[in-house]
Amino acid sequence: MAKKWISKRSQVIGRTKIRMMYELETMYDDVVSFTVGEPDFHTPQHIVDACLASLENHRTGYAPNQGVMELRKAISERIAQTHGVVYDPETEIIVTAGGMNALRSAAEALFDPDDEVIISNPYWCNHMHHPLLEMAKAVQVPVWEKDNYMYDVESLEQYVTPKTKAIMLNSPSNPTGGVISKEQIEALCKFCIDHDLFLISDEVYEHIIYDDLKFYSPVMFENMRERTLICSSLSKSYAMTGWRLGYAAGPKEVIGAMLRINENTIASPTTFVQDAAVAALRGPQDARDAMVRTFEKRRDLLFEHINAIPGLRCSKPQGAFYAFVDIRGTGLSSEEFSVRLLKEQQVSVTPGDGFGSAGEGYVRMSYALSTELLLEGMKRIRAFVESL
Ligand SMILES: Cc1ncc(COP(=O)(O)O)c(C=O)c1O
Repeated sequence: MAKKWISKRSQVIGRTKIRMMYELETMYDDVVSFTVGEPDFHTPQHIVDACLASLENHRTGYAPNQGVMELRKAISERIAQTHGVVYDPETEIIVTAGGMNALRSAAEALFDPDDEVIISNPYWCNHMHHPLLEMAKAVQVPVWEKDNYMYDVESLEQYVTPKTKAIMLNSPSNPTGGVISKEQIEALCKFCIDHDLFLISDEVYEHIIYDDLKFYSPVMFENMRERTLICSSLSKSYAMTGWRLGYAAGPKEVIGAMLRINENTIASPTTFVQDAAVAALRGPQDARDAMVRTFEKRRDLLFEHINAIPGLRCSKPQGAFYAFVDIRGTGLSSEEFSVRLLKEQQVSVTPGDGFGSAGEGYVRMSYALSTELLLEGMKRIRAFVESL
């Protein structure tokens, strides 16, 4: 009845299969869930203490819309250390409510109706939804396991039209765990320059990377700083998903536009959370590093167990905490596999086609859960596949 009042743009997006599985899970007891994409650790204590101290100091009023200056400085220092590029905290950095708000306000700042934005397929659902919410087009480019699920730059050419404005890069990637190599990113940067395209680099998993692989951001390469926006967050690296703290760094015109947009939405992230974020960025990093080592051990365990189950296989994830498991050997579709696995063995995974058509035949498994649960899940998955 009330549909006539609902905006057209809000109707262009549907709900995700992650949510679908999440809701189905609630119908069963004793579920081992490989669905949720968040660390199972507590936020390190010194970050919690910094937040409590901020509250005790009555830091409970509004913050500047662009973010607390001390935090912008800490972000600038961090990017200088990790990327070797200096951003001016006055004009080139904005603090956001999580990586999501950075990406969403970037989409609002950059995209007009009918603009085209290149995203990978499989994609993280929000990378597709954000351009659609601007009535822009998300042009899906299939990416393959042989390329670590990163763009094959030679094949990108055919997707570029006069309306193409930007490319979305996410490395390490959700949902695949792929990480872009130096050769791949060099080719991608050259492609952006040659075609005069903007690049949005979603770096929320920047620190969750394995096997001593190096993290590459486009801004580390010549002439990319002026056409790149870094979107990142403390959510995954510091087990701070619920704190909703992220940031963007990029050209001042883009940051200025995002600021005008955020002034009309969130205004700013929570003041005492921003004080805690300073402690996260400037304080000891050992808790973060220990979490990454734990994820790496779980990654190894999952990789070994999955590949020992006839009918299943996966390549070794290089980063983030997701494995993209090939289930084609079972003869089931991604959704059939996921729904039946939940029903018959109370194990929840996300159907790969929920991340785009190229994900059909795969399921995404988040290994952000304890070793004990991971092993229990593996036992049940083996029993399920053997019963087919
Ligand atoms: C690829 C990717 N980008 C951004 C985000 C959003 O992060 P945040 O929780 O900081 O909003 C997520 C969260 O799952 C993600 O997987």
